[in-house]
Amino acid sequence: MIKPDAVSAGNTGAITKMIEEAGFRIVAMKKTLLTKERAGQFYAIHKERPFYNDLCNYMSSGPIVPMILEKENAVEDFRTLIGSTDPQKAAPGTIRNLFAKSIEANAIHGSDSDANAEIEGNFFFSRLEQF
Ligand code: GTP
Ligand code: MG
Repeated sequence: MIKPDAVSAGNTGAITKMIEEAGFRIVAMKKTLLTKERAGQFYAIHKERPFYNDLCNYMSSGPIVPMILEKENAVEDFRTLIGSTDPQKAAPGTIRNLFAKSIEANAIHGSDSDANAEIEGNFFFSRLEQF
């Protein structure tokens, strides 16, 4: 998911190009907006964290671009492509190193397991839209 800071900065195209050039196939993609409540559901795993309320406000502050991506070893390879959560620690050339503004407004989200990728894909896309 390309996050609100990167979409509003006009970086959707540059980020999508990096994703495709890294060998990911875009199976589904759209531009949409999360309500604060839906953002809270998406990041429910973090609801006890001190930054949860800010995160929900930020994630519902503007359009996002969720995608379903396909590749061998996709979860691990995508997390390598996006870099560390904190852009100060993200390796040079990673998406967060190039485009993130802060540890919160960090340009992009990547699923952390195959199981969560399936859950998150279903969160944004109906099966009908996938074909
Ligand atoms: P995602 O791919 O978005 O899940 O990021 P991540 O897996 O690298 O990090 P994590 O799941 O731990 O945190 C989810 C999101 O919460 C991050 O991407 C940030 O947008 C935000 N976040 C994480 N840590 C902090 C923090 O310390 N402060 C604030 N304000 N936001 C944070
Ligand atoms: Mg995470």
